[in-house]
Amino acid sequence: MKKVLIKNIKGLVQYGEDLPKVRKGAQMKELPILENAYLALEDGVIVAYGAMEDWGGITDWRDLEVIDAEGKFVLPAFCDSHTHTVFAKSREEEFVDRINGLSYEEIALRGGGILNSARRLQEMSEDELFEHAMVRIERLMSYGTGALEIKSGYGLTVDAELKMLRVVKRLKEACSIEIKATFLGAHAFPPEYKENHQGYIDLIINEMLPKIAEEKLANYIDVFCERNYFSVDEMAEILQAGIGYGLKPKVHVNQFSTMGGVRKAVELKALSVDHMEELSDDDIDALKGSDTMPTILPSCSHFLSIPFGDARRLMENDLPVALASDFNPGSTPSGNLCFVWSLACVKMKMTPEEALNALTVNAAYAMDLSETHGTISLGKRTPILITKEIPNIAYIPYSFGDQHIDRILV
Ligand code: NIG
Ligand code: FE
Repeated sequence: MKKVLIKNIKGLVQYGEDLPKVRKGAQMKELPILENAYLALEDGVIVAYGAMEDWGGITDWRDLEVIDAEGKFVLPAFCDSHTHTVFAKSREEEFVDRINGLSYEEIALRGGGILNSARRLQEMSEDELFEHAMVRIERLMSYGTGALEIKSGYGLTVDAELKMLRVVKRLKEACSIEIKATFLGAHAFPPEYKENHQGYIDLIINEMLPKIAEEKLANYIDVFCERNYFSVDEMAEILQAGIGYGLKPKVHVNQFSTMGGVRKAVELKALSVDHMEELSDDDIDALKGSDTMPTILPSCSHFLSIPFGDARRLMENDLPVALASDFNPGSTPSGNLCFVWSLACVKMKMTPEEALNALTVNAAYAMDLSETHGTISLGKRTPILITKEIPNIAYIPYSFGDQHIDRILV
């Protein structure tokens, strides 16, 4: 058995038993921190924690690693509940086009954007996609990501969507962190189906979904519900088919416009509604009393210069908020969740405590990992972050752009 003892921790963050599975509204300000603490793990499972003065000492030194965290904070690793980590190539040429005046939507209408990534992914081998993604995941972990959701959606053909999801399946087996897979065949209409939406929807429902279910390649089903992409009715048809195969909905809505996608997703018991740069009164009414987690992606707003999600309005309505990266080559080339934390504070006026709840406990909920991740609680096996020496937790989002994570224990 591998045992780890972390001692002299300046602050043990987000610890405790019987904590709520979701923090919402005013509860999002709550962030338990135990000063001068210890934490003990056995084979990655949390077996004890407490104040240093209550620590009984070491009786059995066999296979024990002792880490001195003097001056450092210890927290549960972040959960990134929304990413597109498997892709072929970066898209900096579109970044330059946007600097020169084109909008993200204009680039997409010219065949760039998601369709650009799809062409490149269709040509790349499964092995090469896997190798690239492994390198990216190592980097994400160094920034503090301890669980990762990954979507398909750059395939857009039966073969290429299956190829992407097989890569995610291999990543699940090869990576030390928990990975969840989302089928996003409905990310964009391929050019040959531009005038034949139902044809592509039928392909998703009749060709892709049965194979994905047979090979158990996905946990969730996603649709990009947006003007020029999938309408609310088209989304509902696809989600219902996915539900029939046991996939839970988790959707892209309200990135550029509010079309009623939030209400429909809530009706279909979506686990999360993601993006939410736009927000209507009806969206708020729909979310009240539901089990759906509104998830905001501030790095996407930053990179595309679009509005930031209104987290304050959600919390004022006693709703929860989760934060995720949206890591992808088009709208969010960074998967750094410490930067997300900082943007949430600076641009969305979330307090450091609210934003950390959104990145841990609420994000764990948004990927069905509440039992194991999101808090430091007995029996959980969340990866653990040890920070560098910092004065307090607010210093991390304050001192943006610096590397504050010293180590991730998985
Ligand atoms: O979540 N909005 C839809 N999909 C991705 C971006 C995809 C891309 O540009 O490649 C997103 O932002
Ligand atoms: Fe996305």
